[in-house]
Amino acid sequence: MRRPFVAGNWKMNGSINSIRELLTNIKQGCERVEVAELAVFPSYPYLALCEEMLCKTQVGWGAQNASDQVEGAFTGEVSINMLHDFNCQYVLLGHSERRHIYMESDEFIAAKLKRVLASSIIPVLCVGETQTERVDGKTFLVIERQLAAIHDFDDNQPGLGRLVIAYEPVWAIGTGKVATPEQAEEVHAYIRGQLAKRSQVLAEQIRIVYGGSVKPDNAAEMLAMRNIDGALVGGASLDASSFLKIGLVCNNSF
Ligand code: PGA
Repeated sequence: MRRPFVAGNWKMNGSINSIRELLTNIKQGCERVEVAELAVFPSYPYLALCEEMLCKTQVGWGAQNASDQVEGAFTGEVSINMLHDFNCQYVLLGHSERRHIYMESDEFIAAKLKRVLASSIIPVLCVGETQTERVDGKTFLVIERQLAAIHDFDDNQPGLGRLVIAYEPVWAIGTGKVATPEQAEEVHAYIRGQLAKRSQVLAEQIRIVYGGSVKPDNAAEMLAMRNIDGALVGGASLDASSFLKIGLVCNNSF
């Protein structure tokens, strides 16, 4: 049984005061979320505050990115060891905003994944096609190319079974244009099938979550799909009550 994973990607939003308030409100309501594993992804400067405020709760925290390098002359980068210093349990890799705005390549993301899997941090690998790629019938091709990041690993690679894959169609991110549950399920099933080709065990273990305009009022139908194991929530996660409502959906759906 895969435990559903509901995560809030806060992107480059918030201030020390607003993040403190958000965390206070999440803390107050999180115990009602009994089934889903919850996590939040603040900007780096707020990781210490997350650690301080969430350490005695069931809510985890992680970073939105990490360096492919260990240490040294890499101005502006943040290493996996630094994330360990703040007890991060997760890190996002290859979010479409990193791929498309900051031109991170598949190879670069694969190099980061290698670093993360060598640590105890759980990588959340984001994949997804653009609107043009979907219209051109290239969705599966793009997903397959992005999933190549896990090809280099042995099936017994420690941590690989804990990997989370987030399917986030680029055209549905921050647009309010959510994929239909059937559209999302089709891609999730494809991803699971690709994983099964190499290992049935991994295909059963790896959680595949959906992201792209998930809100409290569309989460239930999404999470009811067979291969959707949770949600990566952007905009709606900046409001504690919306975020927790999405988490609460899993109390009934799993
Ligand atoms: P959204 O963002 O929920 O605001 O569409 C999702 C994401 O980018 O992870």
